[in-house]
Amino acid sequence: MKPSTYNITLLSGDGVGPEVVAEAVKVLTRISELFDFGILFESALIGGAAVDDLGSPYPDQTHESCKRADAVLLGAVGGPQYDGLPKELRPETGLLTMRKALDVFANLRPVAVDGVQAARSPLRPEKVAGTNLLVVRELVGGIYFGTPSFRNDFEGVSTMRYTRPEIERIARIAFRYARDRRNKVTSVDKANVLAVSQLWREVVQGIHDAEFEDVQLEHMYVDNAAMQLILNPRQFGVILTGNLFGDILSDASAVLPGSLGMLPSASIGDSSGLFEPIHGSAPDIAGKGIANPAATILSAAMMLDFLGEKAAATAVRQAVAKTQLDGFLTADLATDPFLPLTTSAFGDEVVKRLQFG
Ligand code: IPM
Ligand code: MN
Repeated sequence: MKPSTYNITLLSGDGVGPEVVAEAVKVLTRISELFDFGILFESALIGGAAVDDLGSPYPDQTHESCKRADAVLLGAVGGPQYDGLPKELRPETGLLTMRKALDVFANLRPVAVDGVQAARSPLRPEKVAGTNLLVVRELVGGIYFGTPSFRNDFEGVSTMRYTRPEIERIARIAFRYARDRRNKVTSVDKANVLAVSQLWREVVQGIHDAEFEDVQLEHMYVDNAAMQLILNPRQFGVILTGNLFGDILSDASAVLPGSLGMLPSASIGDSSGLFEPIHGSAPDIAGKGIANPAATILSAAMMLDFLGEKAAATAVRQAVAKTQLDGFLTADLATDPFLPLTTSAFGDEVVKRLQFG
C-alpha cells in the first residue's frame, strides 16, 4: 500500500507561536519518517502577523489553505500591540472567524495530571494526581456568536442562543469520547436561571436516553462545576458544555497540572480539524526561546490521532512523557537540581525519544 501523505497548514501566529510550532514541526517530521507517511507543510498567516502583512486577522488565502488541508496546526494569536485595534482587526477575531468558517464545533481539551505535574500543581498533589478529564466545549455557537450583539454608549448586548441541532451534535461527540473516559459525562449549564440552559439540559438528556444509555450522565450547574474542578477533579470523565462556560472551565482546569504549557486542544468539525495549545501568545516571554512547546507537540499528537495515525500519536505522547520523566523540563516546570531547557532543546529531546512501535 502506498503510504499516505497529509497536507498540513501551519498557522504560527504571534508571540511564542512560531517558537512552539517549530518544535512540533520537528517532531512531526521525524515521526513521519519513523512511521512511513508523508507530511507536506504549508504556512499561512493569522492573527496580528496577518494584520501586519495583509490587513486582516484571517485573510482569504489563509482560509483557502485551511480548507485544502487535511488538518491545521496553530500556535497562538494576540499581543499588546494589537489591543487598541478595532474589533474586526483584533487577532482574537481572526481566531473566532476561522473557527466559524471551518465549522469546527467541537473543542476537545484533555487535562491529564501525572506525577511530575502534580508535584508542581498549586493544589495539593494528592488531590490532583491521576486527574484525567476531557472538556468538550461547543465552539461555534452560544454567546460568542449569538445575535443580537451590539454596543452603544448606553447598552451592550450579547445573546446566548443554542438550537436543538447545535446541542445534539456536540452532545453526541461528548458521549462518544466518554466511552474511553470513565464512561461518564457531566453536562454543565445554568438551567436554574437561563432558558438556553434549560433547552441544553433537555436535549442532552434526550440524546443520552435515545443513543447512549450505557454512558453515565449527570447535570451540574456551572458555579458548582467550577468549585468541583478544584475540590475533586478526579470525579470527572467528560465535561460537556457550551462556548462561554467551556472557555472559563477549561482555563480553570488548565491550572491543575501546574503549567499551561502542557495542555493541547483539538477543534473538530465534519470536514476540518484545527489543533492548538491552550495557552496564548505569552508576549512576556516571546522571542526568548523559553516557552514550553509540549502543549503544541501534544496538539500535534491529537492531530495524528485525527488523521488516523494512532500509533504515531501514541509514540509522540510517550516521547513527551519520557522526556519530562527523565528530568528534561522547560522553565515553567523545572526546579532544582535540573536546569531548564530551551524551547528548542526540549524539542530535540522529544525527537530523540521517538520510537517506532
Ligand atoms: C480560547 C481563547 C479564545 C476564546 C479567545 C482568544 C478568543 O480564550 O481559545 O480559549 O475565548 O475562545
Ligand atoms: Mn480561553
